[in-house]
Amino acid sequence: MSRLEAFIDRMVAQKRLLEHTARLIADVPGPVLELGLGNGRSFDHLREILPGREIFAFDRSITAHPSCVPDGEHMIVGEIRETLKFCGPRVRRPAALVNIDLGTADETAELAIVHWLSPLIAERVAPGGYVLSDLALDLPAFDVVAKPEGTEACQHQLFQKRGMP
Ligand SMILES: C[S@@+](CC[C@H](N)C(=O)[O-])C[C@H]1O[C@@H](n2cnc3c(N)ncnc32)[C@H](O)[C@@H]1O
Repeated sequence: MSRLEAFIDRMVAQKRLLEHTARLIADVPGPVLELGLGNGRSFDHLREILPGREIFAFDRSITAHPSCVPDGEHMIVGEIRETLKFCGPRVRRPAALVNIDLGTADETAELAIVHWLSPLIAERVAPGGYVLSDLALDLPAFDVVAKPEGTEACQHQLFQKRGMP
C-alpha cells in the first residue's frame, strides 16, 4: 500500500469514527471541545454533522483556512495545558465530547502530554460523555469503547466517562 493510500484510508476511518461518535452523543448535553484546530478539517466536519451543537476549538495558534475557524467566542488560543484549565467561564458546561488531535510523533513528548492532559480531560467531560483521542490517555473514570468496523485505520481511541448523562 502506498503512503497516499494509507493516508486516504486513515482519513476515511477518522471521518467514520467522528460520525459514529456524533451519533453516540445524541443524548448527552454539553458542548464539543476540539483540541488541536490545525487545518480545521475535523472541526469543519464536526460542525457539519452536529448542527446546533456548541463547539469550542483550542490551539496555540490559528493556521486553519479562515472559513474553518470558529468565531472569537469559540476559538480559544494558547497552550492547552493552560487554556483547558481556565476555560470554565467561557465553556460553562461539562463537554459531551472532547476530540483530541494533537499530532505528536514523539513517544516521550506524548507521555509528557498524557501526564498533564489526562486529569484536565477527566474533569471537563460530562458523565456519559465521550473522548476521542490520538493519545493513549490515562482515564480511570472512563471505559474504553470498542470502535466500529471500518475505522481500524484510524489510531484514535474512544473513551466514555462512567455515569448517567
Ligand atoms: C494535527 S494538528 C490538528 C489537525 C486538525 N484536527 C485537523 O483536522 O485539521 C495538531 C494541532 O494541535 C496544536 N497543538 C499541539 N499541541 C498543542 C498544545 N500543547 N497547546 C495548543 N495547541 C497544540 C498544533 O498547533 C496543531 O495545530
